[in-house]
Order: sequence, then structure tokens, then C-alpha cells
Amino acid sequence: MTELVDTYGRVHRDLRVSLTDRCNLRCTYCMPHDFADWLPGPELLTTDELMTVIRIATELGITGVRLTGGEPLMRADVADVVRRINELPLRPDIALTTNGLRLEKLARPLADAGLQRVNVSLDTLDRERFKKLTFRDRFDDVLTGIRAAQAAGLEPVKVNSVLMRGVNDDEGPALVRRALDEGWRLRFIEQMPLDPSGIWKRADMITADEIFEMLSEYYTLTPVPTRGSAPAEEFYVDGGPARVGIIASVTRPFCAACDRLRLTADGQLRNCLFAREELDLRQALRDDALDGEKIDEEVRRRLHAVVADKLPGHGINDPSFIQPSRPMSAIGG
Ligand code: 5AD
Ligand code: SF4
Repeated sequence: MTELVDTYGRVHRDLRVSLTDRCNLRCTYCMPHDFADWLPGPELLTTDELMTVIRIATELGITGVRLTGGEPLMRADVADVVRRINELPLRPDIALTTNGLRLEKLARPLADAGLQRVNVSLDTLDRERFKKLTFRDRFDDVLTGIRAAQAAGLEPVKVNSVLMRGVNDDEGPALVRRALDEGWRLRFIEQMPLDPSGIWKRADMITADEIFEMLSEYYTLTPVPTRGSAPAEEFYVDGGPARVGIIASVTRPFCAACDRLRLTADGQLRNCLFAREELDLRQALRDDALDGEKIDEEVRRRLHAVVADKLPGHGINDPSFIQPSRPMSAIGG
């Protein structure tokens, strides 16, 4: 079957699947703290529908699936989803991006179901700050969750941090220290314009260069060779083997090597985090006029169509850039 190649020659290998738009935190850069506009249950893809899409995606050359949210562990049958992906004939790599809160309970069942890796988001090491940033007093649960993931063999656990000016930008070196002590693979991500109130300002963003400089005051960073389509620029810390990553999504976009495709929890395909348009897959999955093989055919057609429409880049740096209309929690990180 024809692979998912766009008009710029990018072959798509990575499918990001949002399992729910719900979350048990309210990170300020992601969701308004009083957000209540959740997707109604019937609008979410069922697990059977998800599996149809993921199976077909693997038949079209997708080799990695990342489960996201919202908070993917809020979906009650998440371990079942992992198990069923793991049983596909063309079994892809399976990873998951989480805030860590439910890992204490779920790390082991997820690993047993075939999950290979987790990314955990953590922006601060200070409990009070964590509370301010997420509107929930759950800092300890994140640490417990990361340890549970390590104990379940989901290693190395990647930890994602977004530094924000005047909020937590004094914590870079301390986060690295903690990562070295705890065995995390830490990555700093430049804040992207996805915040709910549209207050992202370029001048407020802590850039990858700034992060490199602030860390270099404390550590010797030497570039790890080979980057491929992975967005993180990686550095050995003090000669290695520990490493830290810096993801310059805004100042050094990696769009030219992008091999990602996204499926929202309500079954919409997006060819970019910043896409202005989505393609409705759920409609095809629920079309009564189609039988099994016809549904597969239509899903294949729409996967190809959304890839064919992909733009060369996210355009954050263009004056005419417009933020996507859905919050990050609905798009999937
Ligand atoms: N910019 C960069 N990263 C973000 N995340 C959420 N919103 C943004 C943003 N505006 C991160 C979270 C998590 C991952 C899903 O995406 O911190 O690590
Ligand atoms: Fe939840 Fe992740 Fe959004 Fe934070 S960034 S509110 S953890 S979905």
C-alpha cells in the first residue's frame, strides 16, 4: 500500500493519538483553569474505532504511535488500548505523553500491556509553584509517578519542561541536577503559541539559545551527533552518558523533517499542531452506508488526503500566523 508521503517528500511514520481531551491538571499554558467545554462522550472515538485507524495507519507505514491527551491516563481503558495496539500484525512502537499523576497505579499495567516509553511533563521542582502553574496540589504525585514508571522498566523516562519568563526560568540548572540524580532524560521545550488566552509573546519566550547559555554556566554541554526527525537537540552533560535535550520548536523549527500526523480524541485528523483545518475521520468510521472494507478504504483515502494537504511549516514566525482555534488539550501534545 502507498505510504503517507506529502508533497514535500516527507514520509509519515509517527501517529499521535489523543485519547481524551480531559485532564486532571490545568496548566496555565494549556487550558483555562475553569475550563468546562469538554467533548461529550459520544463524540470521542470508541476503542474499536481507534483501533481501525491505528491498524490502517500501520499498514500505510506508520511505525510509531504516541498516546496523548489531554491526559491520556484519564481514559479508563488506556491499558487495553495499549494492549490492542501491541497485538497488531504490524506492531508499532508505543509511547505515551502524560502528566504522571496516574502513573503510580498504571505504569505497571501499561508496561505489561506493551507500552515502551513515557514522557512526563514537569515544569518546576517547587511544590507551591507547581500549584500555581497547574491549579492542583499534585507535585508529589508526579514524582511518585515517574518513579513507578522507572520501576516498571519504562526507561529512560523522558521529562519535558517548558520554561516561562518570570515564572520558572530560574529552574533550568536545578532541573538538570534533579534529572541527573533521578535518571530522567530531560528535555526543555520552547513555549509555543498554543495557550488558551492567546497571551503568548515572542519576547517572553525562553529561547533554546537562552536555555543553552543558562545551563552552560553550570554544565559542559557537548552535542550528541545524529538528530534525524527527532526534534530535540541533545547534549551530553559533563561528558555523558547523561544527556539533556532542547527543543527549539519556535526558533529552529524542525518542520522540514516532520513525520507526524495527529488524531484528535473526537476523530479529526490534523497534519500539524498548528493546522488551521482538520479532516473528519469519525464521519467515515460511523457512516452507515459503508461496510467494513469500504470504511477501511475511506479511512485510507482520508489519511492520504490530510497528508497531501500538509504545509511546509508551522508558520509561527510569519507575521500572518494565526493560533489554532482548539486548545492544546483538544489537539494532543
Ligand atoms: N508550548 C510548549 N509545550 C507545551 N506543552 C503544552 N503546551 C505547550 C506549549 N504551548 C507541553 C506540555 C507537555 C506536552 C504534551 O506539551 O508541557 O509536556
Ligand atoms: Fe493537562 Fe497536559 Fe494541558 Fe497540563 S499541559 S493541563 S497536564 S493536558
